[in-house]
Amino acid sequence: MATFFSTQTLLLLPLLMSLLLPFSMPFTVIVSDSGNQSSIIDGLQNGFSMNLSGAQTEAHEQEAVYDIMKATGNAWATDIPDVCRGRWHGIECMLDKDNVYHVVSLSFGALSDDTAFPTCDPTSSYISQSITKLPHIRTLFFYRCLSHNPQPIPSFLGQLGPTLQTLVLRENGHVGPIPNELGNLTRLKVLDLHKNSINGSIPVSLGRLTGLKSLDLSGNRLTGSIPSLSFPVLNVLDLNRNLLTGSISSSLGSCHSLIKMDFSHNRLSGSIPDSFSGLKELILMDLSQNRLSEPLPISIRSLSSLQALILEGNPMSTTLNGEEFDGMKGLTILILSNTNLHGPIPDSLGRLTNLRVIHLDQNCLNGSIPRNFKNLKNLSELKLNDNQLSGPVPFGREMVWRMRRKLRLHNNTGLCYDADSGFEDGLDSSFDSGIGLCDKGRPSSAKTVQHLSTTAKSLPLASRVNKSSGADQKVPILVMLLGQTIVVVLILLLL
Ligand SMILES: *[C@@H]1O[C@H](CO)[C@@H](O)[C@H](O)[C@H]1NC(C)=O
Ligand SMILES: *[C@@H]1O[C@H](CO)[C@@H](O)[C@H](O)[C@H]1NC(C)=O
Ligand SMILES: *[C@@H]1O[C@H](CO)[C@@H](O)[C@H](O)[C@H]1NC(C)=O
Ligand SMILES: *[C@@H]1O[C@H](CO)[C@@H](O)[C@H](O)[C@H]1NC(C)=O
Ligand SMILES: *[C@@H]1O[C@H](CO)[C@@H](O)[C@H](O)[C@H]1NC(C)=O
Ligand SMILES: *[C@@H]1O[C@H](CO)[C@@H](O)[C@H](O)[C@H]1NC(C)=O
Ligand SMILES: *[C@@H]1O[C@H](CO)[C@@H](O)[C@H](O)[C@H]1NC(C)=O
Ligand SMILES: *[C@@H]1O[C@H](CO)[C@@H](O)[C@H](O)[C@H]1NC(C)=O
Repeated sequence: MATFFSTQTLLLLPLLMSLLLPFSMPFTVIVSDSGNQSSIIDGLQNGFSMNLSGAQTEAHEQEAVYDIMKATGNAWATDIPDVCRGRWHGIECMLDKDNVYHVVSLSFGALSDDTAFPTCDPTSSYISQSITKLPHIRTLFFYRCLSHNPQPIPSFLGQLGPTLQTLVLRENGHVGPIPNELGNLTRLKVLDLHKNSINGSIPVSLGRLTGLKSLDLSGNRLTGSIPSLSFPVLNVLDLNRNLLTGSISSSLGSCHSLIKMDFSHNRLSGSIPDSFSGLKELILMDLSQNRLSEPLPISIRSLSSLQALILEGNPMSTTLNGEEFDGMKGLTILILSNTNLHGPIPDSLGRLTNLRVIHLDQNCLNGSIPRNFKNLKNLSELKLNDNQLSGPVPFGREMVWRMRRKLRLHNNTGLCYDADSGFEDGLDSSFDSGIGLCDKGRPSSAKTVQHLSTTAKSLPLASRVNKSSGADQKVPILVMLLGQTIVVVLILLLL
């Protein structure tokens, strides 16, 4: 087992965990300096199996740990004669070749019932500057530690540049800006400032963190535009739920290792840059609830790894020409609700046979549903409601049964089902599909469609306009995304 989980795998774990957000708990894996015969060897990582008599914690580090513990309301720690030997959950040490322990990781906060890191005194905690006296520290993890005593992120953390690899200040009550000094943490792999009250803009100095694998600044009050960043090994870039404005910098297209990009719920405008075609590893792109106002660039069709494209709630005001999805063979989730789309639904969508979820609702799409949608064998959720679609729906009993209440067709101009299609047999009898039976015959020409749409108009209003009271569909999508991510995790673990 030990050899199976290589150091590389361990390195990836924090990232993979953060991919699972918002479900995951944060992470505490620490990594050893593989390939570097440094003075620190992997001493105590495997628990209490070692008891090298005579080994002691370095004296200055011991004092620093006492300070840090006192500052968080954990003065009990000062009764422990040797912090690395009388370990508690939340401190990790490593032994050097001279039999001296060095502190490499400190963690605070109640993650879950079975992860008992020291918790912080809610009223008086702060981050002690003695942290800068830990010359080997690699991981700092503060979760909900200062929430009731809001304070800025201390700029002295920048002094940990030579060693710090993971900085997590999650839901930690921080206010004020991100200090420029964090740009000095040039060995950082994970920076997680999720859900604080940080304001100001994203410092350009963060561009120096070229070894970053995961950057999560989501859930803050960041303003200004996203700086021109280019991180060659970044896997996760999460800036969702901030107040970011301006257009999306084309330099982000050079983050070639990106797997997850989430800029949703900001105020970003302009277009999706052409350069995004270079994001060949991207699995999730969520730019929903912004002010993007231009058509999708054709170039994004080369995103062959993309599994979820979520753009809902942007005034894109465009027609889909069909080519933009051509190469997205892996696409399983496409969400373009409320993006002011008009014109027809392109046939090309029906060729993306991995699609499970399609939301094109609340647009001005017209014409009929492409007949090849019946080839979407994995489709389990289709929202086309609140458009101007007309003509017969191309689904039979089996497909309707598979989607059941996740098939939303109400409030269209003239959608209907053919009597012999089996559509009605697949319906959940207590659920109003929002459409009625097509007029006699099997209409196929545009003329018939036109005719149909007038007939449909004469149907009782209630049967067309009845809005389903079903719960919001976000949860199933997230669950599905989670499933997808687990697959990714497994694949990466097997690498
Ligand atoms: C290993 O680490 C030491 C100090 O931590 C450093 O001086 C040395 O250059 C590193 N070696 C390699 C191969 O990275
Ligand atoms: C560990 O070392 C201490 C002294 O440093 C000794 O008292 C103790 O018995 C040792 N424990 C084991 C399990 O060897
Ligand atoms: C750290 O960053 C700040 C601001 O970005 C800079 O002024 C300072 O010189 C840096 N310190 C070190 C030790 O690099
Ligand atoms: C950030 O918030 C603080 C209050 O917490 C405020 O005083 C400051 O002006 C804000 N800064 C910016 C750039 O909005
Ligand atoms: C549908 O899903 C299954 C299992 O989830 C998968 O094996 C298959 O490749 C997908 N695509 C098609 C076209 O069936
Ligand atoms: C769809 O709407 C466009 C205008 O947005 C119109 O030009 C076109 O004729 C309509 N097509 C159909 C089939 O109704
Ligand atoms: C029907 O859909 C249109 C958008 O196509 C929307 O403006 C309208 O409010 C919807 N009507 C109802 C009753 O929901
Ligand atoms: C809408 O559908 C529900 C349940 O299917 C039904 O109880 C309700 O009466 C319908 N409303 C109208 C206006 O037909």
